Amino acid sequence: MEFNEEKTIDETRQGEAIVLPSPSPLERGRGEAKKLFLESYGCAMNFSDSEIVASILVGQGYSTTTDETEADLILINTCAIRENAETRVRQRLTEFKKRKKENPSIIVGVMGCMAERLKAKFLEEEKIVDIVVGPDAYRDLPKLIETVEGGQKAVNVLLSREETYADISPVRLGSNGVTAFISIMRGCDNMCAFCVVPFTRGRERSRDPQSIVEEAKDLFARGYREVTLLGQNVDSYLYAGGGLKKEITEEQKKTATTFANLLEMVALVSPELRVRFSTSNPQDMTDDVLYAIAKHENICNYIHLPVQAGSTSMLTRMNRGYTREKYLDRIAAIKRIIPDCGISTDIISGFCGETEEEHQATLSLMQEVRNDFAYMFAYSERPKTFAEKNMKDDVPENIKLKRLQEVIDLQLKHSAEKVKAGVGKVHKVLVEQFSKKSQEMLSGRNSQNTVVVFPKGNFKKGDFVNVLATKCTGGTLIGEAV
Ligand code: SAH
Ligand code: F3S
Repeated sequence: MEFNEEKTIDETRQGEAIVLPSPSPLERGRGEAKKLFLESYGCAMNFSDSEIVASILVGQGYSTTTDETEADLILINTCAIRENAETRVRQRLTEFKKRKKENPSIIVGVMGCMAERLKAKFLEEEKIVDIVVGPDAYRDLPKLIETVEGGQKAVNVLLSREETYADISPVRLGSNGVTAFISIMRGCDNMCAFCVVPFTRGRERSRDPQSIVEEAKDLFARGYREVTLLGQNVDSYLYAGGGLKKEITEEQKKTATTFANLLEMVALVSPELRVRFSTSNPQDMTDDVLYAIAKHENICNYIHLPVQAGSTSMLTRMNRGYTREKYLDRIAAIKRIIPDCGISTDIISGFCGETEEEHQATLSLMQEVRNDFAYMFAYSERPKTFAEKNMKDDVPENIKLKRLQEVIDLQLKHSAEKVKAGVGKVHKVLVEQFSKKSQEMLSGRNSQNTVVVFPKGNFKKGDFVNVLATKCTGGTLIGEAV
């Protein structure tokens, strides 16, 4: 709930860098493995990409390590969504500089959105960087590493029309063995005025549904009990044989696989496999997606639906493609079709030209919807975006932060209300891990994505347990198995 954190998709994956521990011996390459230290910043999509990169490099004989002092190759998967995300990466690079001074043979690579944004310029700005690789070029990593071993710097930031890494089976790292991400599409065509993602991740393309279902089946067979389908705008998913979304013809659309179709296909893998997805978009979320959720017990009743702002005038400036009324219509549809659905959102305070009246409209919208949870940010101007080129970042920093604080305070109230409403009810919880506070307690989430903690009894990770919530603290329900 803090602002200025790199929070986008999944509450559990936000903020801090995620360092991926060593894979099991089975997943290691043969022979004397070189060691890869891989650190991920930003959204769940980045985390998922790191698992693809790990898979590519384990295939090359690397093994991963959480100890950066023993690394032969350091990769940092970067985020460019707000300026502070980039600042943090620069700080990390300064630390790696020391490492490289001690051992000049270490290779340092920058991947992800910041690599894509800055391209070869990165090599001049950060002299210790050897490799710059964009989100669509990870297959090229073995060649890039070879180039560096030959004494040169290496860059590949080509964006692709087809790449979805569909055939690469991600190495599940840092995993609890119960929940996993599956990337279902790449890029974004929406061009929200504030957002750098379309520039760093390229045009939208969907992954072959069959490969998604296969990945889900494989995870289930290995004991996983929840998958989260990932995309910048999952409602826009459309597969008609591959390639760019915008090139799919009207004729092809008639038989293409939609997101609602895909959800059902994954839900049918097993009733014991939970399905989540992120992120939805008010402009594309159709009722058929909601009916698919309502129809299958194992598709979780939880929708992350970023609104960004509460007034139609601001939404228009943001180029979000919907009005306040249309968003409220989508919320009403969710509440009608999935009565006990958890809903969360993203909000930006202080976007270009934001008036006090528009800010009040955001607060009143929040009052109307009463989200269970929200990620809230102060607007941060990003190079190349429509806003940077055509609009003025004119809300003073202190006003941005004051408004953001008001948004956060209101959301905290709503979140507390929502969690409290869960006390006295029975929740079906998928056990993910021990509670952070006690090895005697297990922790998991209910369908609505609220964390539930209860005494472990004879239960274990991966079990579905009905828990009667007896109290709550902060955002967590506490109870006992019934
Ligand atoms: N569709 C994506 C959105 C990625 S960005 C997804 O899957 O989550 C995540 C959130 O960051 C956005 O919803 C928006 O609220 C916020 N954001 C994006 N660009 C921003 C900027 N320039 N300044 C502040 N917040 C921003
Ligand atoms: Fe960014 Fe808007 Fe796409 S927020 S990721 S351009 S839906």
